[in-house]
Amino acid sequence: MMRISKNLTETGQIATEVAVNLKGGEVIGLVGELGAGKTTFVQALADSLGIKEKVASPTFVLMKVYSVIGHQSISKLVHVDAYRLRDAEELKNIGLLDYLGQPDTVTVIEWANQVKDILPPDSRMITISPGEGENDRTIDF
Ligand SMILES: Nc1ncnc2c1ncn2[C@@H]1O[C@H](COP(=O)(O)OP(=O)(O)OP(=O)(O)O)[C@@H](O)[C@H]1O
Ligand SMILES: [Mg+2]
Repeated sequence: MMRISKNLTETGQIATEVAVNLKGGEVIGLVGELGAGKTTFVQALADSLGIKEKVASPTFVLMKVYSVIGHQSISKLVHVDAYRLRDAEELKNIGLLDYLGQPDTVTVIEWANQVKDILPPDSRMITISPGEGENDRTIDF
């Protein structure tokens, strides 16, 4: 499915549509260039899951685990930034495999194209690309 977002609010709405369909166990790979809106998308997704904590880019920490309170089947959101990872081995070292595909966990990975070798085959990819205007984005999921 392909959607056009004209601004931050619309990107947030699209993230909410994705969030309401999550059950837990999903691995979502976010693909898009620097500044495409990957972190922005995760922030809106987290918000929709009821996470109150501020979701920041995990560029330096590589992985951050957020607790989801009060959701029927999801208790954790794991946010990964694979940009600085040299190889999938490093992603294993930070403990990601403890979370990937766990039934109560949703894992979202920025720059997923860099680590696609270790992602489960049923991972969902969401691609964010620039559009014509400065704030236009095409979101493909
Ligand atoms: N329609 C839009 N959707 C998402 N972000 C938008 C949109 N229009 C403008 N922006 C801006 O684009 C920027 C996206 O930054 P963000 O950190 O989310 O990108 P990113 O893909 O995570 O980058 P990085 O590769 O550095 O992690 C923000 O400054 C945001 O305000
Ligand atoms: Mg980012």
